[in-house]
Amino acid sequence: MDPNRVLIFDTTLRDGEQSPGISLNTAEKLEIAHQLARLGVDVIEAGFPITSPGDFEAVQAISREVEGPIIAGLARTHVADIDAAWEAVKEAERPRIHTFISTSDIHIEHQLQTTREDVKGQARAAVAHAKQYCDDVEFSPMDATRADLEFTAEVCAIAVEEGATTINIPDTVGYTMPAEYTNYLERLYALVPGLRDVVLSVHCHDDLGMAVANSLAGVMAGARQVECAVNGIGERAGNASLEEIVMLLRTRGDAIGGVHTELNSRELARSSRLVSRLTGYVVQPNKAIVGRNAFAHESGIHQDGVLKERETYEIMDATTVGLDSNAIVLGKHSGRHALRQALEDLGFTVSGQALNQAFARFKEIADRKKQVTAMDLEAIVTDELREEIAGYTLEWFDVEASSRRPPHATVGVRSPEGTELTGSFTGDGPVDAIFHAINSATGIEAKLREFRVDAVTAGQDALGETSVVLELDGRSASGQGVSTDIIEAAGRAYVRALSNAVRRRDVAEREALEPSAL
Ligand code: KIV
Ligand code: ZN
Repeated sequence: MDPNRVLIFDTTLRDGEQSPGISLNTAEKLEIAHQLARLGVDVIEAGFPITSPGDFEAVQAISREVEGPIIAGLARTHVADIDAAWEAVKEAERPRIHTFISTSDIHIEHQLQTTREDVKGQARAAVAHAKQYCDDVEFSPMDATRADLEFTAEVCAIAVEEGATTINIPDTVGYTMPAEYTNYLERLYALVPGLRDVVLSVHCHDDLGMAVANSLAGVMAGARQVECAVNGIGERAGNASLEEIVMLLRTRGDAIGGVHTELNSRELARSSRLVSRLTGYVVQPNKAIVGRNAFAHESGIHQDGVLKERETYEIMDATTVGLDSNAIVLGKHSGRHALRQALEDLGFTVSGQALNQAFARFKEIADRKKQVTAMDLEAIVTDELREEIAGYTLEWFDVEASSRRPPHATVGVRSPEGTELTGSFTGDGPVDAIFHAINSATGIEAKLREFRVDAVTAGQDALGETSVVLELDGRSASGQGVSTDIIEAAGRAYVRALSNAVRRRDVAEREALEPSAL
């Protein structure tokens, strides 16, 4: 392999999905995995199969369907975890088992409640067991940056000896600093000569805002795999942001010995929008690379400079991250064939009933909106995908709003069993009224925690995109909706969040009856 090529290991669907309030189902994970394949990531960590039947099913579906990247499944060192990971990934074109155990004393004593000797034994047994199934085995000494370096080196040497092909050094709690991390990795190379024969990987969390800087320090020390997530989502403050790593190596790689990735950076903006839409995690406007304002110039001096020569104030071209993809594609007279072609150009293969559904939705929107752009189509397709998976669906609604009377809403909601339920409520505002009317129809008393409205594109007739986070029995869940009518988009988002919350509650209740392996 090219010694300057840095592999991108995407963990949006595993570490990213561990972010509070994110709960993706199999269809949504597949959609993201297909987009990651279009983006050209080298590895997709598709999930942690032992943790729930839903996680197992999603990893298996991704392994069966998604071509191109290596598909990895995470496993602790337990035999049952490794067996489940293998069962889930074995049908992938290129499967990988990723197994981990902590090497820091704080984890060994308090969490694992065991000894260093036992950790060494578990690491050896796990890699050997995984190796019986699969050539491609990754090993991570968790919390390595807070662990004793010599001990971590011993454990890594054991993993290499047993055949691990990638050794990943996680900064699990986002504690390290660039120079310290470089030093740690250089010393690890010195202590574990076999490390030169495998891929060294870095996995950095962003608790101190250092995840990307630390990952870069890792690459400078010799790491050739970076673990990261789209929009930087992940446990607590998240993981290193994939788009920042990719554009950093693309823009400044020549200053660090010509390191580069093989990703199609023009798919970055779209990947970011999809992940944001499906997880409900908003991208801050000034977020590097994919934020709405990342290429916007406000001051007169900057605008003047950019108009004369783009490079006066821009170090990257917006088109290289895919921010030019909003050309108008369709109008209200466009037919089914044109829609299918436009969707295909965007990378969606839609046919049969799904195309009929997408076409009906497109017509409805094109009637209200003069021009339907690529970004609108993306939003519509993602929204339609959600329709199929929601437990409850909003069938119809009536909302009366007036400045002289309190707003009143009546809704019809289809239950997962197919019954139409109705409910009404007089609320503080039209959105409050429709949310409470949905609670009344379903008999579920969820509490609204967050509500957000965004426009998919600019312009008065823009599609509205809403996001709802609600809480049910102490668990939060999110849902999104798209429509030219904000009240309808809000209602759709609310029933989806409610469906997700009910699904999470049911899973938790089932797990309480039959505790899973975790
Ligand atoms: O942060 C971490 O240590 C992890 C491991 C499972 C790699 O996510
Ligand atoms: Zn992590």
